[in-house]
Amino acid sequence: MTIDTAELLAIARDAARHTGGFLLHERPADLGVAATKSSPTDVVTEMDTAAEKLIIERIRAHRPHDGFLGEEGDASEGSSGVRWVIDPIDGTVNYLYDLPGWCVSIAAETAEGTLLGVVEVPVVGETFHAVRDGGAFRNGKPIHCRPAVPAARALVATGFGYTVERRTRQAAAIAALLPRVRDLRRAGSAAIDLCSVAAGRVDAYYERGLNPWDVAAGALIAREAGAEVFVDLWPEADGSTMCLAAPAGLRAELQDALVALHA
Ligand code: IPD
Repeated sequence: MTIDTAELLAIARDAARHTGGFLLHERPADLGVAATKSSPTDVVTEMDTAAEKLIIERIRAHRPHDGFLGEEGDASEGSSGVRWVIDPIDGTVNYLYDLPGWCVSIAAETAEGTLLGVVEVPVVGETFHAVRDGGAFRNGKPIHCRPAVPAARALVATGFGYTVERRTRQAAAIAALLPRVRDLRRAGSAAIDLCSVAAGRVDAYYERGLNPWDVAAGALIAREAGAEVFVDLWPEADGSTMCLAAPAGLRAELQDALVALHA
């Protein structure tokens, strides 16, 4: 079955922009936590659920035979060879607190892997996108990751999981890493962190324990911007893997450091 990449990209961009506008303009002043997931800090708001529904409705209107995998539980097999991987709000805690670092993340996958990704950051008016082998863009302009620097001069983004066990281990790793890099950043959205690597706003990003919807679009965008990106390093018994994105030389050095730190 032939897949019209331009059509899929237009659908993804439309769904991301429309949903981003909805989340930005309809955010209730008294936004509350509707439910929790892996731990009491892993929240879902009523807006996460509404946004996922909106994205799927919007895509399905054009693509009734595609599959879906969404953070808020929507999962369906399609018959077209295309599956959409959706995080309606990546950075939910930022959204809950009315901080600007949240986004809508939409990727389309085929049997060959991620075909395209869109990350819409409504508060700052930025749309990142990439198509496999087609480069990465911010608001339509090409973007590139930074040239590799030694880890000692690298600004490294990371994030934390929601369980006490995961955080205890992540805290130990950053305590050891912080004295060895320029600085660390914790922005609160894996998808935006990956776009920040792509746009040269940080040198690298790593985090253990992400889900497919956190990284599907952002990993392609960072890769198409020139970074080396791994989303499934060092799998562990709990099902978690390490995501690492950085330009080649720095990626190798950071990878060695993270292994040694059991990050
Ligand atoms: C979270 C964010 C955060 C990362 C967490 C993710 P959510 O996604 O991407 O930056 O550190 O691991 O779960 O819950 O906001 O969609």
